[in-house]
Amino acid sequence: MPLFEGLGSGGEKTAVVIDLGAAYTKCGFAGETGPRCIIPSEIQRPGLQQPIQVVQYNINTEELFSNLKEFIHMLYFRHLLVNPRDRRVVIIESILCPSHFRETLTKVFFKHFEVPSVLFAPSHLMSVMTLGINSALVMDCGYSETLVLPVYEGIPILSAWEALPLAGKAIHKELEAQLVEQCTVDTDSSTGQSLPAAIGNIQEDVVEDIKVRTCFVSDLQRGLKIQDAKFNLEGTAERPDPPPDVDYPLDGEKILHIKGSIRDSVIEMLFEQDNEEKSVATLMLDALVKCPIDTRKTLSENLVVVGGTAMLPGFTHRLLAEIRLLAESPRYQQALSTKTYRVHSPPAKPNCTAWLGGAIFGALQDILGSRSVSRDYYNQTGRIPDWCSLSAPPPESLYDAGKTPPPLMKRAFSTEK
Ligand SMILES: Nc1ncnc2c1ncn2[C@@H]1O[C@H](COP(=O)(O)OP(=O)(O)OP(=O)(O)O)[C@@H](O)[C@H]1O
Ligand SMILES: [Mg+2]
Repeated sequence: MPLFEGLGSGGEKTAVVIDLGAAYTKCGFAGETGPRCIIPSEIQRPGLQQPIQVVQYNINTEELFSNLKEFIHMLYFRHLLVNPRDRRVVIIESILCPSHFRETLTKVFFKHFEVPSVLFAPSHLMSVMTLGINSALVMDCGYSETLVLPVYEGIPILSAWEALPLAGKAIHKELEAQLVEQCTVDTDSSTGQSLPAAIGNIQEDVVEDIKVRTCFVSDLQRGLKIQDAKFNLEGTAERPDPPPDVDYPLDGEKILHIKGSIRDSVIEMLFEQDNEEKSVATLMLDALVKCPIDTRKTLSENLVVVGGTAMLPGFTHRLLAEIRLLAESPRYQQALSTKTYRVHSPPAKPNCTAWLGGAIFGALQDILGSRSVSRDYYNQTGRIPDWCSLSAPPPESLYDAGKTPPPLMKRAFSTEK
């Protein structure tokens, strides 16, 4: 809890800010510089060996409600240690979050935890807020997907979003396949055993640890040579020398030999263009092409890269090099006349940037009140309006008992694409 909360702020307690990601949830208090906790978005149920993922879109509403209830309970009573009824809530949401997930989450907050108000804030917009600028082309490369969304003068250009399922999850899958195929395990009694023979299935958290500790993004020249060698079936292209192999201790007595060639090449999958000629770099340029022509220069000079996968060593450098190379190619040269591409460095680690934006927004107490949806409003209408329909007059003052509820805009996103 902030030490001097309440002093000079009219006594209202600082809001709780939650970024519920597919892999990790970041949670803390508005006005602070970082989240109090970053925990896996999962719950443990007695009798089940595997944890249950909280962010799942394809399960029924009752199950989702019960999973979310248990998870949010853990956040409040194990990590934040505050009374949910005392504090407003700011939720950082992805624009691709389905309505039924967001409605179930709202129900958990209002009906079960009885929080005073809830605000859903788009994660890309919140990331821009940390920089003190109004316009940026934002890429979020997290766990389940990479999503690019331009924000111009504080308004997300929804029609220009671009996404690909290329992020942490896809890297883990590829890395696991390569480890199983190419790497060997030494134990006290034997050497050179294959990975499945030695340990059976390899857990995703071990794969993730191997990725974070040993893998990196190669620079452009090296990356292109690696891709050439991989796709050149005649074997004429030569692969650059790989970095040293690494011995990774799997547990007390088993050592996994990780080949150097895996360490520098596994992340290439983000930059290799697929059959539709799409990579994380083309997402940026495609989004730019979809934007109005007079916004493109500003956007290309204000690139913002967030999300945990962007923390891989060399990621931003490679992304910028790829963008500059692609911009010169015939495919984009005609469509885009902008030549300058610059990346911002936000004042937080990439995986917490959106959270920090929410914490800054949540600290603006007057604005937070007018942008939030109150419990009374929710109880009367049973609906949660979208960010873009939360403009003045605020939802808290819109409803007079006895009158028909105001028409609420449908989720703007659902009509866009
Ligand atoms: N220091 C790091 N180096 C490399 N990768 C990292 C690092 N820290 C986190 N990651 C990776 O970032 C991913 C999680 O990022 P993030 O927390 O932004 O995702 P999320 O918000 O949970 O997911 P999503 O935004 O897709 O819902 C994981 O795959 C994790 O392995
Ligand atoms: Mg995220």
